[in-house]
Amino acid sequence: MPLHPGLAPVAGLLGTWRGDGAGEYPTITPFTYTEELTFTDVGKPFLHYVQRTWSPAGAPMHTETGYVRVVGGATVELVLALPTGQTELAEGPLTVTDDGFTCALAARVMNSSSAKQVDATERHLTLDGDTLTTRFAMAAVGVPMTGHLTSELRRV
Ligand code: HEM
Repeated sequence: MPLHPGLAPVAGLLGTWRGDGAGEYPTITPFTYTEELTFTDVGKPFLHYVQRTWSPAGAPMHTETGYVRVVGGATVELVLALPTGQTELAEGPLTVTDDGFTCALAARVMNSSSAKQVDATERHLTLDGDTLTTRFAMAAVGVPMTGHLTSELRRV
């Protein structure tokens, strides 16, 4: 089945990406991780997204899943579920470049009653050929918007 034409600006995401990342926050000890992202076409005008991460010793770390929608060729909406008790509704502009795109997403966050408090998040995705870089910042646990994660992934 051909990819829905509305997804053309993010078609370069399709498939699996793997690489390394690093995390920090003022309240925690810095850490590193391995990350795998998969973007799957399900024959509808959205992609299914799954992220999994592992510690350097191979233990499972954060994971999340959701859907990527493109609105009018220039805006991305990412609807996410996190096992730590948050849901994120992230949206923002998509800028197509020579060999990919850049995308800046700002999210409204809902927290379950047992979750650590996350008030807002910002995600940056840069696709450049076979390299995908990510940046993630959050306003959480009383700290204003501050970087938590960066990663650089290659197409598998
Ligand atoms: C690559 C994905 C991620 C990894 C590997 C990761 C890893 C970690 C680690 C190792 C910690 C410190 C230990 C702990 O408190 O459990 C932590 C803390 C935290 N992370 Fe993440 N995280 C990721 C994504 C996220 C996302 C997407 C959010 C929010 C939407 C988030 C929110 C938090 C919060 C709120 C804390 C607690 C800070 C505190 O208690 O002071 N993390 N993360």
